[in-house]
Amino acid sequence: MKLAVFISGGGTNLQALIDTCAKGTLKAEIKAVISNNSKAYGLDRARQAGLETFHISRIVYSDEEDYQNALMDVLEEFEIDLVVLAGYMKLLPSVVVKKYYGRIINIHPALLPKYGGKGMYGMKVHEAVLQSGDKFSGATVHMVDDKYDQGPILIQRRVPVQNGDTPETLAARVLEVEHQILPQAVSLFIK
Ligand code: GRF
Repeated sequence: MKLAVFISGGGTNLQALIDTCAKGTLKAEIKAVISNNSKAYGLDRARQAGLETFHISRIVYSDEEDYQNALMDVLEEFEIDLVVLAGYMKLLPSVVVKKYYGRIINIHPALLPKYGGKGMYGMKVHEAVLQSGDKFSGATVHMVDDKYDQGPILIQRRVPVQNGDTPETLAARVLEVEHQILPQAVSLFIK
């Protein structure tokens, strides 16, 4: 299973995939790591693991078509089987979603369909959960379509919201679960 992993930030979910591939528990190969943010620490993680990295963003490619072609070229060059969005903050162009429909997954740090959609990312998600008084939060891996955080859910896992939680303490608890269910979701695809 050849993977392309899209990131925008720290890349701890990418690291979970790197580690499970290295251990052999995940029978997959990360052929390309693509980031819209050239300063993403996840790119350092990829380089440390000897992976091919690509900085592809609308800033680098001022023309929309060039940008879309740059993404498609990488996915085709490496004969990607599964696209994994791991902390990726952009919508994929619809040309990519169409070509890889059914073979794109995303991880979201909440129990979708709640706390998802445009603008719901990072700490904003956990702030909203704490505001709501919900007793549980969690993480979701879902299929990607051309809207933020929609598409059929593959795996979801709950974590308790604890008294005194801050967005940061809740985020850390959810992140631990993300690192477990993302490799599991990729394994589901392989099976
Ligand atoms: C994670 O909570 C992920 O769900 C969200 O971005 C956060 C950072 O992910 N999309 P990572 O450490 O960059 O993998």
